[in-house]
Amino acid sequence: MNLSGNTILITGGTSGIGLAFAEEFIKEGSKVIITGRRADRLEAIKSRLPEIITKVSDVADAAQRVELAAWISENHPDTNILINNAGVQLITDFKKSIDLNRIGSEIETNLTAPVHLTSLFVPHLSGKKDAAIINVTSGLAFVPIAMMAIYCATKAAMHSLTLSLRYQLAETGIKVYEIIPPSVDTELGHDRREDKSQSHGGIPVAEFIEGAMAALKNDEYEAAVGMSAGLRTRREEVLEQLNSMFAG
Ligand SMILES: NC(=O)c1ccc[n+]([C@@H]2O[C@H](COP(=O)([O-])OP(=O)(O)OC[C@H]3O[C@@H](n4cnc5c(N)ncnc54)[C@H](OP(=O)(O)O)[C@@H]3O)[C@@H](O)[C@H]2O)c1
Repeated sequence: MNLSGNTILITGGTSGIGLAFAEEFIKEGSKVIITGRRADRLEAIKSRLPEIITKVSDVADAAQRVELAAWISENHPDTNILINNAGVQLITDFKKSIDLNRIGSEIETNLTAPVHLTSLFVPHLSGKKDAAIINVTSGLAFVPIAMMAIYCATKAAMHSLTLSLRYQLAETGIKVYEIIPPSVDTELGHDRREDKSQSHGGIPVAEFIEGAMAALKNDEYEAAVGMSAGLRTRREEVLEQLNSMFAG
């Protein structure tokens, strides 16, 4: 992939991996538009990085997804890359009653939103130079952590969908990439923690983004970064080991 000269829409650019992609693509000479629900965060990022374009948008709201696609067509018609990055990670305990609204919003954010946005953007991206869709999945797509059952299932679904999308779009010129992060030290899961300063661990974002950008540059269409490498073929071996670390 050519890292420069693109116009890139990144969903969920207010922190973590999305923000790191934004900063790297700007450094490489691409124009970047980020979205998120937190307007104050977007404003703070804009004052630090004046060249970034920001848009308050909730991917879990279908009407806002339609509005975002229309806004891009009107204001940034040169957009040639969509990065489906926004995501949330919740705990699901099947021994307690399930809150369908909560599960619904996790599935809407992690799965329905990227599917819908992809369908909205394919007509826009078709025929654009260096057009691409980049889906951010997870190593947990291949080996689930039981306590994050729905999260892992959405990521497994996104992996499967990415394979289908790549086949479907083969003739359109839109390249389809999957970035498969390992555990990365971001704000993921903060909403389920009482102490928001508590980290969920993982490698530093800077280390992750270096690997992810190198993979995109080298046209690795399915890029498992760091510890995610090999998980696709090692599920049974890793399942017990990983879950014993998260027991309780
Ligand atoms: N960190 C890891 O260990 C890890 C590992 C594998 C995969 N991933 C994946 O990487 C992606 C980015 O996560 P991260 O680790 O960078 O976590 P993060 O720091 O919590 O960032 C998540 C981003 O998603 C946005 N977001 C969440 N819900 C949204 C909504 N309804 N509408 C719009 N934006 C929304 C957040 O923005 P607002 O809150 O401002 O809306 C934020 O910018 C996710 O898809 C995640 O599943 C992360």
